[in-house]
Amino acid sequence: MRDTLTAPPTRTHVPIRHLTGPRALDRGLIESLLARAAAFEQGAANQATPLSGRLLATVFYEPSTRTRFSFEAAMFRLGGQVLSAENAIRDSSAAKGESLEDAIHVIGGYVDGIVLRHPDVGAAERAARVAPVPVINAGDGPGDHPTQALLDLYTIKKELGRLDHLRVGLAGDLRNGRTVRSLAILLSRFPGNQLVLISPPGLRMGADVIDALREAQQDAEETTDLGGAVADLDVLYQTRIQAERFESPEEYERYRGVYVVTAALMRRLPERAILMHPLPRLEEIDPQVDADPRAAYFRQARHGLWVRMAVLDWAMER
Ligand code: CP
Repeated sequence: MRDTLTAPPTRTHVPIRHLTGPRALDRGLIESLLARAAAFEQGAANQATPLSGRLLATVFYEPSTRTRFSFEAAMFRLGGQVLSAENAIRDSSAAKGESLEDAIHVIGGYVDGIVLRHPDVGAAERAARVAPVPVINAGDGPGDHPTQALLDLYTIKKELGRLDHLRVGLAGDLRNGRTVRSLAILLSRFPGNQLVLISPPGLRMGADVIDALREAQQDAEETTDLGGAVADLDVLYQTRIQAERFESPEEYERYRGVYVVTAALMRRLPERAILMHPLPRLEEIDPQVDADPRAAYFRQARHGLWVRMAVLDWAMER
């Protein structure tokens, strides 16, 4: 018998709308989510509180500023409420050895949706297999970060007016950078894009993404030369070298500072182009570049709010 006192109001006859990775995002769904985000940015949220009475859990086993705050702000702005484990490794029963599956199974009985960040690749998929409510991947180790990729597309569309026939340079730690992995896949949904994968040999894009791009007949070239690549880009997407993913501090030091975007490099980037970064940034973009109108990364972070409102509204729609 269904426990009507404690069971959350899940939709019947409708599959649960998990968002665990970019592969679930076809072009139609991407465009619909971006249109929904634009409506929220234009003020639709001021009139509507579609998630009133609903509860979201943000369960973060890794640190975050943008993703957690923007998801929580999005939920409140949609009329809902939030329960947060901002350091689940230390402050949840994970510290006593509880499995991810058991934790998600239990938390899913209290709330209407779960936003999960975890250090293990595939954690969101594992969570979705046991969760009775939508699971949204907020980053699974060096795996995927699908809502970041959506807000990146939103930014490109807003800044450049289109998502097709663009030359996009993805630079830095492509081996460990989950944002660039997901973004490359989503850019392949649109025709005529060219990807330039800029990394040191030891930090190349993973074979799984390269294979997926090949399958999608997505044009992608690889280079180690950032300076040589920027002159004909529409988007330069710089990323941080992910210290937390390296085997040793010595390995990190080998790559630290390998690519730095300076005012001198920006002079080689076309006037029409934009510079993006998922943030946080360390030394890979000189703060002097922030004043350049082509530096879009703080606008990009702001767009996370509208896009995550759209994702929550879609995933938790009754
Ligand atoms: N871009 C991004 O995921 O930032 P946070 O780690 O601060 O959430």
